[in-house]
Amino acid sequence: MTTTYLITGAAGFVGSSIAEELLKNPENHVIGVDDFNPYYSQSWKRSSLARLEVDNFELCDVDLSSADLDPIIHRADYVLHQAGQPGVRSSWGVDFAGYVRDNILATQRLLESARTSPKLRRLVYASSSSIYGDAASFPTTESQLPAPVSPYGVSKLAAEHLMSAYARTFGVPTVSLRYFTVYGPWQRPDMAFTRFCASVIKGETIRVFGSGAQVRDFTFISDVVDANLRSLTADLEPGVFFNICGGSGIELIETIGIIEKAVGRPASILKSGAVAGDVLRTGGDNSRAKQLLGWEPKVSVHEGLVHQVAWLEQRPELLDTDELWN
Ligand SMILES: NC(=O)c1ccc[n+]([C@@H]2O[C@H](COP(=O)([O-])OP(=O)(O)OC[C@H]3O[C@@H](n4cnc5c(N)ncnc54)[C@H](O)[C@@H]3O)[C@@H](O)[C@H]2O)c1
Repeated sequence: MTTTYLITGAAGFVGSSIAEELLKNPENHVIGVDDFNPYYSQSWKRSSLARLEVDNFELCDVDLSSADLDPIIHRADYVLHQAGQPGVRSSWGVDFAGYVRDNILATQRLLESARTSPKLRRLVYASSSSIYGDAASFPTTESQLPAPVSPYGVSKLAAEHLMSAYARTFGVPTVSLRYFTVYGPWQRPDMAFTRFCASVIKGETIRVFGSGAQVRDFTFISDVVDANLRSLTADLEPGVFFNICGGSGIELIETIGIIEKAVGRPASILKSGAVAGDVLRTGGDNSRAKQLLGWEPKVSVHEGLVHQVAWLEQRPELLDTDELWN
């Protein structure tokens, strides 16, 4: 029997990677929703989508913040809500309106439709470690009070609270996954690792925001996909949330050394001002996910970065993307 999965943000980094995995099973029907927002290159998104061109994939070019959602959402057994407006830097100032629309309003509209769905079994939401802000302790557990320090983090937390509110009030079977910096093949071109890999491959200077001593708990994309799939079927209370983190913090500057070795060329580095709202450290405790999802990260930063470099080296056409060089 066919199972229908609806993935929002299917043209994006995480959404397309989940879709690719689900589409390996011909009994799965995947509906991908995306409005192709202009935050980064459309051709990058189209290239990413090209790997989903199989018969059991259906693309809906729809804006979740305005479209009539019931006819789409009510067909799904499972919803994986990955659509959103990412990015800390651009969340200050006038562009915040987009964060309200794509992260908060879109999520609320999705939940309104989900609560009247005749068949929905689970709704997984892509939350973020940014909701913790400058965390008071490390490794940060889910019981720590969220205190975001960027408008982006505030919008992700608001949407997570919406998940809990609809779970508590209407029993919508939601799960929130707090991703800690996700990387790997098809990572967005505005994110540090993609930019670093591209710069070393092309022999260009890497621009590092801040001192480079920021510590991040990086999580490889296949581990994030695995966490999403486990969240669909695990025995869970509606409204539950989990840290999804690689489990080993590393300074940003150290990762450049791994990329240099993988490419076989030294990097030239230029430091520029820190980004307002960028925290100094993230580091999560993933024991709740281990216990309730049976999930743990399998890919180390070293292994994952070597993989990301190899992927980008095989796609020279992506190296001209504007966002890599801004
Ligand atoms: N990548 C990370 O490291 C990371 C970390 C923490 C949380 N997250 C969250 O994970 C999710 C996916 O992140 P990503 O890196 O894949 O981002 P992405 O930008 O590559 O993908 C998001 C997709 O959502 C689409 N979208 C945005 N608003 C929409 C709307 N109103 N209707 C329909 N589609 C819409 C965009 O066009 C885009 O293709 C986001 O919600 C992000 O906040 C990502």
